[in-house]
Amino acid sequence: MTSSRIAVLASGRGSNLQALLDAIAAGTLQAQLVGVFCDRPGAPALLRVPSALRWSARPVDFPDRDGYEQALGDALAASGADWIVCAGYMRILGAALVARFSGRMLNIHPSLLPRHRGLHTHAAALASGDAEHGASVHFIIPELDAGAVIAQARLAISPQDTADSLAARVLALEHRLLPAVLRLAVAGRLAERGGTALVDGQPMFTPLTLDSHDRLMP
Ligand code: GRF
Repeated sequence: MTSSRIAVLASGRGSNLQALLDAIAAGTLQAQLVGVFCDRPGAPALLRVPSALRWSARPVDFPDRDGYEQALGDALAASGADWIVCAGYMRILGAALVARFSGRMLNIHPSLLPRHRGLHTHAAALASGDAEHGASVHFIIPELDAGAVIAQARLAISPQDTADSLAARVLALEHRLLPAVLRLAVAGRLAERGGTALVDGQPMFTPLTLDSHDRLMP
């Protein structure tokens, strides 16, 4: 059987990309990384893969957003990716691009969605007095951070936590959560229908939770 093809969209450091590369190298994720797609040509994420797998373009070099996203979409299609993962990709995707890859685009977000969409999630969790925080992986829809949540990893906020300490602790969870969700995806067990995530064909009305053995539990 040929392994599933994964493309990653990233804008910055790429530590979640690295977590996927490490899982593939360790044999715990049966997949092939077919490209890293980046809106910032100098991003460190690009350096994590061989140059043949790097695609980057600056949106300002296109006449408009549609032009940029047409080029990005064409490159993603040419990669033959089965799954497209936004991991620290700092642009909102347009409706046409999302529709083109509907049901196979995932995003990792550093909060327990639907709490704290958008930026500055760690400060927002502290400011809200939340007892828990964490990370979510969800299907992408045009509305930001609003697609069906597949799985989450949680932690308890302590009185000593700062936005920086939470960012570091959540990031460590992200590095375990993202490969776990991709394991489901490449096994053909994950789908989306009518705005709901399906696992093994069953609608999931509550996200799966990452356990201490990196398994996703109902
Ligand atoms: C992660 O916290 C991710 O959830 C958020 O941006 C950060 C990207 O980190 N969307 P990295 O580039 O994967 O290191």
